[in-house]
Amino acid sequence: MQRVDLYQLHWADFEEVSIDDAMSAFAEIVHAGQASAVGVSNFRAAEMRQAHAALAERGVPLASNQVHYSLLHRSPEVDGVLDACRELNVTLLSYSPLEQGLLTGKYDAAVVPIDGRAEAAWFSAGNVSAAQAVVGALRAIGERYGAEPGAVALAWLLAKPGVVPLAGAKNAWHAQENAGSSGFRVGSVTG
Ligand SMILES: NC(=O)c1ccc[n+]([C@@H]2O[C@H](COP(=O)([O-])OP(=O)(O)OC[C@H]3O[C@@H](n4cnc5c(N)ncnc54)[C@H](OP(=O)(O)O)[C@@H]3O)[C@@H](O)[C@H]2O)c1
Repeated sequence: MQRVDLYQLHWADFEEVSIDDAMSAFAEIVHAGQASAVGVSNFRAAEMRQAHAALAERGVPLASNQVHYSLLHRSPEVDGVLDACRELNVTLLSYSPLEQGLLTGKYDAAVVPIDGRAEAAWFSAGNVSAAQAVVGALRAIGERYGAEPGAVALAWLLAKPGVVPLAGAKNAWHAQENAGSSGFRVGSVTG
């Protein structure tokens, strides 16, 4: 029988299926040996606590909550998700940790993506320009350590206890670069 390492619930409609019922189904899958661990995604702190409790009743830990978290999107620090993750020993998997490429330093007012991101509010000229100050700081830090700005942005997340960035890659070079960031430590990050 095949086993999934981490079986995650993505967006959920809690009016259709309650958190309790969903977690009960996920626990059954773990008990049947079809998944090793259960995660959720885009769950608010209160939803996470409910999922954690529902799984705990069935003897299964909640392994992760996958949410948007990057240097340019720091909601988990103020909406209670990061605190709840740490309290409950749930790994925060941060998606879009490079802010869809913006934190790699390759996009600016003159160079914007040519795919769907070009239409996204986040890639509007104003936002891309405003992000350049952060990109500049990442570049300055990276130059000291021989690292790309994106690697510094990922290292910032990796230095946070209980946080693991999920960087997207379009090619082998991206994957290699992003994996390399795990060997680079941002020493002064706290919290
Ligand atoms: N749970 C959810 O709701 C949710 C939502 C969104 C994403 N995700 C997941 O999160 C993961 C990553 O998120 P993401 O793809 O949105 O954003 P990301 O990791 O912030 O950015 C990825 C993009 O940045 C560029 N890039 C990546 N590495 C690079 C490098 N080393 N140098 C230069 N450019 C680089 C590539 O695009 P270009 O080369 O085209 O610029 C790549 O597609 C994916 O696994 C995705 O499935 C989950």
